[in-house]
Amino acid sequence: MSKLAATDLHFSFDGRPLIAPAGSTVAGALVRNGVSSWRRTRVKGHARGVFCGIGTCFDCLIDVNGERAVRACLRALREGDRLETSSSTGAGPDA
Ligand code: FES
Repeated sequence: MSKLAATDLHFSFDGRPLIAPAGSTVAGALVRNGVSSWRRTRVKGHARGVFCGIGTCFDCLIDVNGERAVRACLRALREGDRLETSSSTGAGPDA
C-alpha cells in the first residue's frame, strides 16, 4: 500500500475510489492506477485510452463530472473528480 501525501487527490473512475498526486492529468492519474482504457471505438468497439498524450488524437476522451468527451491527456485532475467511461465514440469533442 502506498503512503498518502498531503498533495494527493481523491477521485473516482466508474464509481471506484482512487488516488493520484496533485499535478496529474486525468490520463496520468488513471494510468497510475492501472487503468489503460476508458472508452470504445464506434465501429469495432476497440478499447481506447491515452495515445498521443498531447491533445491531438482524441483517443483519450472521457466523461468528467458529467461533462462528455473531455480529453484526459489535457485536463488536470481535481479533488473529487468523477470520471466515467466515456459514451463518446471518438469522432471529436462533440461526438
Ligand atoms: S491522448 Fe491524444 S488527445 Fe489525448
